[in-house]
Amino acid sequence: TPEKEPLKPGDILVYAQGGGEPKPIRPEELKPGDPFLLAYPMDPKSKVVKSGEAKNTVLVVRYRPEDLAPEVAQHGVEGIVAFSAVCTHLGCIISQWVADKKAGLCPCHGGTFDFAQGAKIISGPPPRPVPQLPLKVEGGLLVAAGEFLGEVGVKAEAAFCRHV
Ligand code: FES
Repeated sequence: TPEKEPLKPGDILVYAQGGGEPKPIRPEELKPGDPFLLAYPMDPKSKVVKSGEAKNTVLVVRYRPEDLAPEVAQHGVEGIVAFSAVCTHLGCIISQWVADKKAGLCPCHGGTFDFAQGAKIISGPPPRPVPQLPLKVEGGLLVAAGEFLGEVGVKAEAAFCRHV
């Protein structure tokens, strides 16, 4: 089904919650220090929101540009950066914001990710950062500028090792 298609460069990011008409995310709706938003990619032509595949879940967050590591900032727009929301530990969705650390928390086992530093693991069991999604602004909307810069979710061999 089209809702399960993978994210593609050029997809428009829309709010994951809300129901009704898909609502694209506008850069000015994000402020540095605010919690991240969860988003799905929307095909720009068909307007299908690809919410049928958990691996398409993206989190979008804005930092002050000077707080971002340069290699993170280069794939963002004015301090706005996006990452896969699928935890690299066992695949839960990173859904909580830790305000004092400006980090994301996976509720399953407490994996904490510092997105400003490339989703560096601050605490918990995730074995690697979640991959970044390059962003651009087109027509005033946030758009995926490329593919995820790494493998989304749990690496097959990592899951295998944990079951031994
Ligand atoms: Fe995220 Fe375990 S699935 S910390």
